[in-house]
Formats: sequence, C-alpha cells, structure tokens
Amino acid sequence: MYQSPVSSLTTMHLYHRRVFVRADLNVPLHGTHLLDDYRLQKILPTINAIQKQQGRIILATHLGRPRPGDTEPSTKHLIPWFERQGYHILFESDLSRAAERSRDITTSSTILLLENLRFFTGEQNGDTTFAQQLRACADIYVNDAFGVLHRHDTSVTLLAQLFKPHERTIGLLVEQELAALNRLLSNPPQPFMLILGGGKIADKIPLIEHMLKRINTLFLCPAPVFTFLKALGKPVGRSLVDEQQLEQCLTILRKAQEYNVTVIMPRDYLVAHHTYTGTLTYVNAEQFPHEEVGISIGDQTVDHIAPHIQHAGTIFYNGAMGMLERPDTLHGMKQILELMTQTKALTVLGGGSSAAVAQHYNLVDDFDHVSTGGGAMLAYLSGSKLPG
Ligand code: 3PG
Repeated sequence: MYQSPVSSLTTMHLYHRRVFVRADLNVPLHGTHLLDDYRLQKILPTINAIQKQQGRIILATHLGRPRPGDTEPSTKHLIPWFERQGYHILFESDLSRAAERSRDITTSSTILLLENLRFFTGEQNGDTTFAQQLRACADIYVNDAFGVLHRHDTSVTLLAQLFKPHERTIGLLVEQELAALNRLLSNPPQPFMLILGGGKIADKIPLIEHMLKRINTLFLCPAPVFTFLKALGKPVGRSLVDEQQLEQCLTILRKAQEYNVTVIMPRDYLVAHHTYTGTLTYVNAEQFPHEEVGISIGDQTVDHIAPHIQHAGTIFYNGAMGMLERPDTLHGMKQILELMTQTKALTVLGGGSSAAVAQHYNLVDDFDHVSTGGGAMLAYLSGSKLPG
C-alpha cells in the first residue's frame, strides 16, 4: 500500500517558485463543449493551496487519445471554465516556449496552461528531451493526476525523476484518492459489498480476484454480469459478452464459494434492440429475449438488493449502468446510487462514467468518496503498482 512521501504540498516552500502541476483534466468534451467538470473541480484544492503560498502554476494534462497530427482535443477548450472560476489563464501550445512563458506568471491567480501533452509524441514514448523541456518550466513538480497514474506517460514518470526528492510531491487530490482507496483495502467496515457494472470485464477480473478475500457480497450488474451468465449457460440475448473471460468467470464463481462470498445477479433487466436506440423494455432474467441487448437492471432487482445495501458496512460501486446520452436508461443506476447515499456505510464510487452519473443527479457530495480515476483506481485496487 502507498506510503506518503516525505515532502508534502502544504509544507513545501513555494513562494514565487514555479510549480509544474501534472493534472488529469481528461474530461468529456462534445466538440468544444464540456460535458462534465468533475475532474476540473477536483484539481482546484491543489491549485488554491499553491496559489495561497504565491507559487506560480504551470498546469499540464493529457486530453483524450489524439492520433499523430491531430489538433483536437485542445486544452484551450478548458480556459473558459477556469476563467469562470476567477483564474487568469495564459496558454502555451509550443512547449519549446513554455520555460520562457513560465516567467510571465506574475500574479498568483494566473496559471500557465500547456497544450494537450498527448499532441507531443514524447509524452507517450518516454522521450528524455521532452521530459527535459517540461523540466525547464518549473522548480517544483506536483503530481496530482490520479486518473493517469497507471500509465507510463513521460510527464507522470520520467519528468518526476528529473526533480530532486525534496522538489517533487503528490497533490491533494492524489493524497485524498489514495487515503480513500486504502480504506477499502485495510479493515473496511463489514460487511463489505462490491457492485460492478460498466464495460470491459477484462479490466475488472483482476479487481474481483484481488477483492474476493475482502468482500462479503458481490453484486454483478450489466455489463459484466452477462459474461458470467454466458459462462453458466444462461440466456443473455445480444448483450456484451467477452468470450475470452468465460473460464475466468467460472473460476471466480468457484473461488467466491470458497471464500463464502454471496454473489448476486439481477432478477430483471432493462433491454433494447440496440444500446443507443430502440424501445426500452424490462424483462425477467430467465426470459431474456434472443435479439435484445441488456443495458441496466429493473425494479425487481433494486428491491432485491436494497436490504443488502442497507445492511452493508462498506459499499464500493464501480462502472455505470445505462448511458448519459440516453437518460431514460439511468433509472436503475440512479436507484442504486440513492440507496447507497441513504446508508451509514462507507460509500466509494469509482470510474469516470459512474462519477458523471452521480454528478448528473447531484449525488456526489452524499458519497464518502467519488474517485476521479477509472483504470488507475482499478489498477490500484487490484494490487498493481502504479508507475506514476
Ligand atoms: C482516464 O480517463 O481513465 C485517464 O485520463 C487515462 O486516460 P487513458 O486511458 O487515455 O490513458
């Protein structure tokens, strides 16, 4: 488990020093329009703590997965959001000028925002020259990019090594994320319930394996549940199934029995002919139609799971059910989130889309922790060492 570094942001001497803040501001954009600002909000405590000490901030992030030569998504689309919060933004797209521009930050409310780091090939190929270019911008390095700590991107790994240990630290968000996730790993209040929805089951198998010894109840939701059902020979229509994981699912179910973990699967489903189109209908789990895709759960399932949620000591929910683009698919997930917020249990919610759904229903503040990380959080809770 991660131990805190020697230097901490709040005790470092930052007065008039240039502080490189590597953030994860990888937010969903529709063109230039920002769809969800949760990750932006969560970087503000670190920015404010640095500015309080009159440190000069150079803010950098990746945004999306641009291909070589792409000019979108640009971080300049984030500028209006920061300006609405009262920050003055300088923007630099040419990293060879960034060191020189870092001298232009003369007031503490000013931030120098760099262009999307993934526009530069050096960000993802461990390029030392690229790292040195970023190093020249700052005196202090702060890694507050929790969502990308599981990647080897230059600005989260190599760049940090170019600063002396007393010149680098983690930000307040990373500190908060690790503290919350560590609570799930060491003596969480019992009974412990894990709820899994979302897409790629392959990413979730290591998490389930690592958590099986710690949890009492595993509630499998769409879409991960469909691969388990397929493995058991049950009907799943045209729902998302990962054929490569069938054997692994059976192993997990056997191990769950061994560890006395109660595995709960939905009693009814919300289905449609296509995930994004077609009439939505509720069907009984045993009568899953051949031609339909399972999207979410129905009321029978919510009623069945409610007492388990009410009696849990810890609940960790990962992976959205339904899509924000089709709000009428979110009813089941909304009910589960609401039940979680009504308990006394330690409640942690994770994954980018899950956080966005909680934001959409104004439920974020009712959770003990809503993680900004998707893959990074899964990797950490699966016991992997995060390169960042
Ligand atoms: C995320 O959104 O999970 C992080 O920002 C990492 O993005 P990536 O999967 O494109 O590396």
